[in-house]
Amino acid sequence: MFRAQLHHHLTAAFAAAGVSLPEGFSIDVSLASDTRFGDYQSNSAMVLAKQMKMNPRALAEQVKGAFAADDLCSEVSIAGPGFLNFRISPEALAGKVKTILADDNCGVPAVDKPRTIVVDFSAPNIAKPMHVGHIRSTFIGDCLARVAKFVGHKVITDNHVGDWGTQFGMIIHGWKTLLNQEALKQDAIHELVRVYKEVNAATKADPAVLEICKGELVKLQQGDADNTAIWQECVRLTLEQLEKVYGTLDIQFDHYLGESFYNDALGPLVERLLKDGIATESDGAVVIFSDGASKPEDDPFLIREGDQWKPTPAIIRKSDGGFLYATTDLATIEYRVKEWKADEVWYVVGSPQQLHFKQVFAAARRMGYSTEFTHIAFGSILGPDGKMFKTRSGETVGLLEVIEEAVERARAAVDEKESAPDDAQRDEIARTIGGGAVKYAELSQNRLTDYKFSWEKMLSLQGNTAPYLINAYVRTRAIFRKLDGNVQLTGDCELTEAAEKALAIKLAQFAETAHDVLVDHKPNLLAAYLYELANTYHSFYEACHVLNSTGTVRNTRLLLCEATGKVLKAGLGLLGIRTTERM
Ligand code: ARG
Repeated sequence: MFRAQLHHHLTAAFAAAGVSLPEGFSIDVSLASDTRFGDYQSNSAMVLAKQMKMNPRALAEQVKGAFAADDLCSEVSIAGPGFLNFRISPEALAGKVKTILADDNCGVPAVDKPRTIVVDFSAPNIAKPMHVGHIRSTFIGDCLARVAKFVGHKVITDNHVGDWGTQFGMIIHGWKTLLNQEALKQDAIHELVRVYKEVNAATKADPAVLEICKGELVKLQQGDADNTAIWQECVRLTLEQLEKVYGTLDIQFDHYLGESFYNDALGPLVERLLKDGIATESDGAVVIFSDGASKPEDDPFLIREGDQWKPTPAIIRKSDGGFLYATTDLATIEYRVKEWKADEVWYVVGSPQQLHFKQVFAAARRMGYSTEFTHIAFGSILGPDGKMFKTRSGETVGLLEVIEEAVERARAAVDEKESAPDDAQRDEIARTIGGGAVKYAELSQNRLTDYKFSWEKMLSLQGNTAPYLINAYVRTRAIFRKLDGNVQLTGDCELTEAAEKALAIKLAQFAETAHDVLVDHKPNLLAAYLYELANTYHSFYEACHVLNSTGTVRNTRLLLCEATGKVLKAGLGLLGIRTTERM
């Protein structure tokens, strides 16, 4: 990619100019903030001059003089107090356009050192309502997994479903007394949630019901055959239905190792932690306290109260012998590292679980794991009124409901268009647009901020939306349909117009963007890039005739259209969004 190439040449230029870089100084090259002066920029001469008490402009001049990459850059200039600006040459741009067209990965280079990365995302809880947090996790996790794979990492996706827990006491009691078999067949998740809610309400009204539920839970935990069978059936029915939803969304998991998978590992794990002195007994429970190794403000086992630091240990076994969420997560880490040789584990889970993960990661480090653990947190989704997000029917939303409603709304929009093809194709287009719109509304947001959910906005053909981007793709394809196969593209690519060069450099920057997404795990960088690409393409299309031109000009422009379509499709694909040839 250009940024890496410039970095290489710039490093050489510093050396050739006789500047020796201080320990730990890294040369910076970034996309230009103002493209009037160049395509890339570097502030390194300036920063370095300051450190070494030199004149920044003079140093920049020296480096510029030593910079030798004529085939890559048509212009190197100095701006302000010593910024270096680089303009990529039309020849290098043309070469890149051809690489994008020839390469399966659109010219995006692979990482130097591929890592094995486990991505833990979605993870709904069985027989409990799926909430918007699970929707965000599902889309963000899927996108990051796709991007990581695309740049050459080994990625393992694992759906750590909440398939074990105290809710099963209530579910089993409800299953035995309230279950509607017909409703279960129709929509198992919905029926199980109904039963759960009803029993939950009953336990609040009548302590006797709570006792019955606790009894059912104990029986399940002790391996009672009937209760085990009911539990298994709940898990099976739910996963079956979930897999259908994931299927519609093109989301795949390599594994579904739910919490229950680790049940047998929990007892021995706690014993080991006790033996190794990582955990301690406290009031009959087993907990992990601070080991005092980090500053109090960085220590997840301490909390500030007034002017004092008080312990907040992680409980890993309750006094009644029950295990907790943290225990399961520690067992899960052991498994992922031992079985899968994970170098990194990414947890795509909402911000409220921040403390939990800090404690789990700290405990894992004390257990000797050097794996890189990352909690990829996110905020919440609000309804258009700024309150909790609800569907048309007024219920709190799960993934299923959102997707169904989006597809329904997209279908209505497709039906309004008279040009739309037959029924089956309309359905297909509605699924692509509806699913894509919901995903894009999510992925175009900074994951850490709350965002407002608006059907109108996400399904609009104007603005930063999936329909707009899919439509941009459709427009690139329409050109080739008009040609009706009557074109033989050659390798002749000569970029002369500003709009052509602007489009080519945008296309080239797909490479940087794909890698940048993983720096802070931010899919919105990719969404923003694709939106800019679509806009740049539209400007190009307005400024430059494609079909009415001739010779090399026409060929060049067609290559640009083809490359734009290819990058849009690949980029949307990384967001998990499909394209359609017409809409
Ligand atoms: N099931 C959990 C929840 O709904 C999320 C699990 C996330 N993954 C994990 N390894 N803890 O909150």
